[in-house]
Amino acid sequence: MSNGPTSFLDLKSLSKTQILNLFERARQLKAKPGKLLTTGERVALLFFEPSTRTRMSFESAAYRFGLGPLVFDGGPNTSLEKGETVEDSVLNVAAMGPRFLVVRCGDAVDLEALSKLVSMPILNAGWGVKGHPTQALLDVFTVQENLVHLEGLRFLILGDVRHSRVAASHFELLSKLGVEVGICGPDEFMVQNPQAKIFTDLEQALSWAQVAMALRVQFERHGVGNVGQESKELYRQKFGLSSRSLRAFSKDGIILHPGPINHGIELETEVLSDPRCRVLEQVKNGVFVREALLRELYEN
Ligand code: NCD
Repeated sequence: MSNGPTSFLDLKSLSKTQILNLFERARQLKAKPGKLLTTGERVALLFFEPSTRTRMSFESAAYRFGLGPLVFDGGPNTSLEKGETVEDSVLNVAAMGPRFLVVRCGDAVDLEALSKLVSMPILNAGWGVKGHPTQALLDVFTVQENLVHLEGLRFLILGDVRHSRVAASHFELLSKLGVEVGICGPDEFMVQNPQAKIFTDLEQALSWAQVAMALRVQFERHGVGNVGQESKELYRQKFGLSSRSLRAFSKDGIILHPGPINHGIELETEVLSDPRCRVLEQVKNGVFVREALLRELYEN
């Protein structure tokens, strides 16, 4: 695991064996609770960007492991309001001595530099557009539960790939596991990635794929103000997942979305009741994958 002896900022240095072992551990924790720590240690959850799933998932994972969560919820009533920087906030919480720092922040924060200034591991819980490694892990764990064989699997990432940290982490993860990656969306959302097969047509992409993961259109990262209703409607028609567009998708396929969902843009609400959809299973699995990671890092 990279960036300092034990910090977890990306997936680059994880081997395939380490990833599969982590999944196995998560599978066991899902089947049966693990041993609880009785050391009274804590984990600080520092969220400088909005979050529902990731923050509460790490919090649940901490309770399941016996680590007391200290939650810093970035906004009103914190010293950020008085102009304290993210870096100072992290260093001050680190001074309280938690066992881990779980951080969500923007690209401007140098988590690598911070990880060298603190004495405990930092875990990336969503870092600007750079990456969101635990999300990618829980997505693929969910796929593995359903489709078992990852080698050669055809995994389609749909939509705002360019602005998605989830996609960035998937590019790191999927190639290590021998998974084939396809991307599909409007030109302005695509990236050049030699690993990825690029589709411009949703029907073709869905006919190719065994897993289809829709991404939230990251309006807040586009920096162009509000996107007009017209272009949202165009996006929905060309790239939105719906019962109609999903006719082209394998009946044994898996549909994913990391959440939060823009209903009626990248995904129609009806898709959530499609038997191929695993969106809430992803959320459930997130707790076990993060618990497995905390336990792994604690021991190493
Ligand atoms: C994602 C994130 O914050 O990067 N959500 C999540 O953590 N489940 C995806 C998103 O915001 O679109």
